[in-house]
Amino acid sequence: MVLIVKKGTVPPTPHTEFYAIPKVLTREEIHGSYGFSGAWSRKVHVRSYPTEQVKPPRKADFSLAPDFPPEADVLQPYHIFTGRMPHEGDAIRGRKPIVHGTRTTLSISKPTESMPKETFFRNGERHEVYFVQDGEGVVRSEYGDLKFRKNVYVAMPKGTTYRIELASPKAWFLLVESMYPINFAPHYFNKEGQATLMSPVVETEIETPELPAYRDERGEFPVDVKHAGGKVTRITLGHHPFDLVGWEGALYPFVFDVKSHHGIAREIHTAPPMHQTFQSGNVPHSGFSLCSFVPVMAGWHPLEVPAPYAHFNVDSDELMFFCNPFYGAREGVVEEGSFTFHPGSTPHSPQGKAAERSLAARGKVQGRLAVMLDTYFESMRITTYGFVHRDPSYVLSWAETAPHAEAKGEGWESPSA
Ligand SMILES: [Fe+2]
Repeated sequence: MVLIVKKGTVPPTPHTEFYAIPKVLTREEIHGSYGFSGAWSRKVHVRSYPTEQVKPPRKADFSLAPDFPPEADVLQPYHIFTGRMPHEGDAIRGRKPIVHGTRTTLSISKPTESMPKETFFRNGERHEVYFVQDGEGVVRSEYGDLKFRKNVYVAMPKGTTYRIELASPKAWFLLVESMYPINFAPHYFNKEGQATLMSPVVETEIETPELPAYRDERGEFPVDVKHAGGKVTRITLGHHPFDLVGWEGALYPFVFDVKSHHGIAREIHTAPPMHQTFQSGNVPHSGFSLCSFVPVMAGWHPLEVPAPYAHFNVDSDELMFFCNPFYGAREGVVEEGSFTFHPGSTPHSPQGKAAERSLAARGKVQGRLAVMLDTYFESMRITTYGFVHRDPSYVLSWAETAPHAEAKGEGWESPSA
């Protein structure tokens, strides 16, 4: 993150003697990315280093490693019904990878319960962004508490120790993981690191963690750490992991409401880069762009075709999550929670009569909401879980004879309405 944040109390000069409890020297930790060269935060632990394990590590009683069906090696687009997947478990144990690449993974988690009391999770190999499709609750980490609700992103840096507690009977998350840090798209920022006045995102609209009083507690505190391609190892700390007196820096969890992506329209069709919210890696050579398709006025040129063109982005696999069915190009094909996977090796386009239908939408705003991720030079594979929940007719849904649900051109409104 570009915004430097400070919470709690830290010594006025870094790496100097500091006490929160008389005669108990605090312990400093740097949580950093790209070695010592990327975004980092300074964490001040009240008494113990975060390295103190009191039991030998062991394999956790669950794994997050994906497996793949034989069909994953056949080139085809996929449509996965994540809305039809069952709710189960907690946010971590119920996490199901649906597409996976060497650097990026997308999963669905539909928990019905909070994580077990005083247990913690840490993704030790990938940065995370949760998109909350439904539910509310709180993500507690050493950085503090972040409340979440429907339609927000929760960004969680690699290496953060956290737990997820639900305040609703169930929740539904789309989870994006990347081996690289996930940040706002850097071209939205000026040389001073501030969002430009033309940017669709404003960095000061993020919500940062509320740091409660430190937990100075001894005991056994299990942390399930994901590493090495989805393996999970349980380590046991001898002190509560939420023991920070304070922290400061640029690497921390935050919430960003998708409504804070302020869409930009133009007279003719606007291509997805203007919908970009986050990016990860060394774009466009690696990593991905993550877009928020928020309601935006369709082009108002007198001959505008609001439906997108067919596109063949040969270096990108496109992954798209539909928060509602109001998406002109896929109307009659998708439902709430539909997830499409279009490999870069083939082009894709709207289905059926979407282009003709869209002519009536010139200058109108559709109540669509979708999250899209385009990888760069990374091929994704459908997992067995994703394959089980696929729409088997999707690959043939562009055929002239393909049956579609009735598309009514729903969800469009005039901007003044
Ligand atoms: Fe596309």
